[in-house]
Amino acid sequence: MPPVETAQAHESKLYSELSYLYDIVFTRIFCDRIQATIRSLNIEPSAKILEVGVGTGLSFEAYPSHCQVTGIDLAPDMLDKARDKISRNGWRHLRVLEMDALNMKFEDNFFDYAMAFHVVSVVPDAERLMREVTRVTKPGARIIIINHFRSRNRVLAFLDRLMEPITRKLGWHTLSLEQVISGVPFKAEKVYKTGRRSLFTIVVGRNTK
Ligand SMILES: C[S@@+](CC[C@H](N)C(=O)[O-])C[C@H]1O[C@@H](n2cnc3c(N)ncnc32)[C@H](O)[C@@H]1O
Repeated sequence: MPPVETAQAHESKLYSELSYLYDIVFTRIFCDRIQATIRSLNIEPSAKILEVGVGTGLSFEAYPSHCQVTGIDLAPDMLDKARDKISRNGWRHLRVLEMDALNMKFEDNFFDYAMAFHVVSVVPDAERLMREVTRVTKPGARIIIINHFRSRNRVLAFLDRLMEPITRKLGWHTLSLEQVISGVPFKAEKVYKTGRRSLFTIVVGRNTK
């Protein structure tokens, strides 16, 4: 594992440079899936929720006001947009902080839920992200990942590899789900897609530490 200080934030720079376009491009692609997933969890009152790589806060509308949500991200411009949504809507149950998800400042066993939407393939070390997520969440906490993973279908996996030089330039790399969760105290309880052709997989699991 590389030392904590070497965590690179290059992706964050990319998202800062493009933050003004983010909602225009990705609301349509990501928003419904993220929000339906959160709503399906029936989050209980007072639950403490962490969202890593929260970006501009496409998820925000789905969180019930009876929970406490902390979103973190490295990109100040993305966070400005998230803060703007929070203040425009008067959401008192949401806050966002500038923080590296690979080196979080939270104490161990603090959160009841953690969300990682479209971020495991953006950070330079997904396993380390998951180790941090399992450290700061309680034993048994629910952990939800939404991402595009390398397909098990050989043709689709080949296409993923073909696209890799382009996607790397855009700041993400395609991993298999196994690469993300291996060696981490996490059990995937439900893995599904919202449509047969969807590129994105929803993983609902638990911290098993
Ligand atoms: C593809 S965006 C996803 C944003 C949001 N989760 C969504 O689904 O719309 C990836 C986000 O991860 C953030 N990010 C990248 N590396 C990070 C890190 N080490 N710690 C925290 N956030 C990070 C980026 O700044 C960016 O906002």
